[in-house]
Amino acid sequence: MQSIMDQDIDHILVSEEQLKIRVAELGAQISKDYAGKDLLLVSILKGAVVFMADLMRAVSIPCGIDFMVVSSYGGANTSSTGLVKIIKDLDADLSGKDVLIVEDILDTGITLSHLVPMLEMRNPNSVKICTILSKPSRRKADIEPDYCGFAVPDEFVVGYGLDYDEKYRNLSYVGVLKPEVYSK
Ligand code: IMP
Ligand code: MG
Repeated sequence: MQSIMDQDIDHILVSEEQLKIRVAELGAQISKDYAGKDLLLVSILKGAVVFMADLMRAVSIPCGIDFMVVSSYGGANTSSTGLVKIIKDLDADLSGKDVLIVEDILDTGITLSHLVPMLEMRNPNSVKICTILSKPSRRKADIEPDYCGFAVPDEFVVGYGLDYDEKYRNLSYVGVLKPEVYSK
């Protein structure tokens, strides 16, 4: 820890070192599984941007990257609305591509349970999910990641791309906020 934001963190769930090791493992596995395929990494902004930047460099086979923005939680609201809308769509044509969705966290699973069928309608060869974090106990939709970094308990986490009210995305570890930060 070495940031002014550290004082708002109650405890660290996944350290920078643990993230580094796990991302390297995921990249190696993906490189093996997708060898010879037309891999397209699709990142969901903004939460997945940090994971995407690290994961794409841990992938050692040729691949494309693309980004989309979907609506999920609004502002400081920490509970799911269940509403999913495409705000910014992909540039790439998905036909024949092996799409790997790169996400920050699979929480209720509502966002991706809507998004995956939407992408599958565009004629890709495959659509799979890679998420750095997962909260299995929160799942509401029938969906699981194909690649997962770490399972975390049912606590609101920030850092490594994940925000609380658009802040803390730039923390290099994943941590739990102190309760008093929410009531400020
Ligand atoms: P879903 O509930 O699986 O649809 O999660 C959708 C999005 O909510 C994720 O991609 C995150 O951006 C956000 N989210 C879920 N849990 C957390 C959390 O603990 N901290 C910060 N953002 C979260
Ligand atoms: Mg978010």
